[in-house]
Amino acid sequence: MIENKHGKVLVFDSGMGGLTVAREIQALAPALSVDYAADSGFFPYGDKSDDALRERLPYIAKKLVDAARPDVFVIACNTASTLALDDVRAVLDIPVVGTVPAIKPAAALTRTGVIGLLATPGTVRRAYTAQLIEDFASEVRVILHGSVELVRMAEQTASGEAISMDAFRMAQAPLFEAEGGDDIDTIVLACTHFPLIRGELAATVPHAVTFVDSGEAIARQTLRVLPDQSGTAGRGGQVWLSSSPARQKRLVEVCRRFGFTDVRELTEE
Ligand code: DGL
Repeated sequence: MIENKHGKVLVFDSGMGGLTVAREIQALAPALSVDYAADSGFFPYGDKSDDALRERLPYIAKKLVDAARPDVFVIACNTASTLALDDVRAVLDIPVVGTVPAIKPAAALTRTGVIGLLATPGTVRRAYTAQLIEDFASEVRVILHGSVELVRMAEQTASGEAISMDAFRMAQAPLFEAEGGDDIDTIVLACTHFPLIRGELAATVPHAVTFVDSGEAIARQTLRVLPDQSGTAGRGGQVWLSSSPARQKRLVEVCRRFGFTDVRELTEE
């Protein structure tokens, strides 16, 4: 834990997934002021076209930073970061931290040499993801599976809706049914929504595996790039939505449970 870090961080995702990153940042540096933003008007990102996201992300990032005025902007979303990290950096004049699949640590961890990667369809098809695999896991077999259904199941579970264990089993079955799937011993949770259902995923794999995510690494990187002159910046707890909070009752309630209680709507002109 790093007690003496002050400043204001805005953690951003399409929906609830980035809350899993926000909590890692808060655990590492409790004195930081952490606010949250969800692009609820454009959720989910996982099945959107690259063109649509490339247009959306710099636009929404700039609007959010103008409104919330953080010292650091954290894109707590693999689908967005693997596509448009540079585009977002180009429109902001503060440090931007991205989230990319934890392929490197997973490759170091596997004993069988077979890794599974669970993500959105967008993250699975990205050149960025292929490059990470080439750079850090060229000696390892990586089996990828993209699912928007799992993103929705994560939001439903976080909201307290009951989902059958069979649904979790089926949603990750394609990983284990692929060639080599029997030997998977490590799974990369390459979508920030998935730590919300880590327990359900762990309970429904056909054999024991270790789940790896990027949350703690992002928290450490956020502190690394925090400008030195960042001062005490309040207690945080704001949550910015890009659609009417009245129509986002589940999201508002889950954000509240994570400590983001001061709900604001980002108005679009
Ligand atoms: N949480 C996001 C990620 O890490 C994606 C969720 C979505 O499809 O909107 O990829």
